[in-house]
Amino acid sequence: MDNDKQDIINQMLSQLTDSAKHNREVYSKVAKHLDEGQKAGVNLSVNQMTKGIMEIYKDKETEELTALDVACGTGRCAVALRNEGWLGPIDGLDGCHEMLEVAKTKNVYRTQYHEMISLETPLSLEKSSYDLITCFGGLSFGHIPHDCLEMLMGLLVSGGILVFSYSDYTNPGSTVQYKKSLEEKIEKLKTEYEIIKTVKDESYYPRADLTKMMGVVNIAYIRKP
Ligand SMILES: C[S@@+](CC[C@H](N)C(=O)[O-])C[C@H]1O[C@@H](n2cnc3c(N)ncnc32)[C@H](O)[C@@H]1O
Repeated sequence: MDNDKQDIINQMLSQLTDSAKHNREVYSKVAKHLDEGQKAGVNLSVNQMTKGIMEIYKDKETEELTALDVACGTGRCAVALRNEGWLGPIDGLDGCHEMLEVAKTKNVYRTQYHEMISLETPLSLEKSSYDLITCFGGLSFGHIPHDCLEMLMGLLVSGGILVFSYSDYTNPGSTVQYKKSLEEKIEKLKTEYEIIKTVKDESYYPRADLTKMMGVVNIAYIRKP
């Protein structure tokens, strides 16, 4: 892998702020280069997440099940899920048009939704319609607000599972606050939903200089009763 390309992307990603509008501009610039610059560590985490999902579904036929990949970016998570053996249709949703343009070339999504998830705007997607929702890298400061977790749970059928990543940040400020609030949110969700497990993955961004930015990835698996 070309380190220069990685560094350009990492520099761009390090420009992410609390502003969703600003971040969308950053993502629109990075979209075309994201795949080539993805680090091995990040892919390991995505693969760990999709392996964890297929472990849960190991005794089930997935052909008839429908998945939604939220904050799907260029489609990496859906490709990994397919490679792990998920057979049913997968839809993708992302707030960045340029990301979806790249995702389209992978032919992995049944339908692509160009929508920003926010507390202010209801989603156009039908409630109770997905068996599985994945979200890798979407629950973060300046991305999807943690208070939107219930909105995502609402898209699941009864028995459906939401699986998402969130990072242990080592830099101070809103990143740390986001993670704290997200974990408080997960605690609250326990009253209504089953937290199947949360897993810590230290393979993410293994290079020392990058740990300042992202750190360790946690993956949460939550079932709607
Ligand atoms: C770190 S990237 C992850 C992309 C992909 N899941 C992957 O693992 O490669 C975050 C993605 O979230 C999208 N995003 C950020 N905030 C969003 C929001 N509020 N609603 C929908 N998509 C959002 C961005 O456009 C970007 O594609």
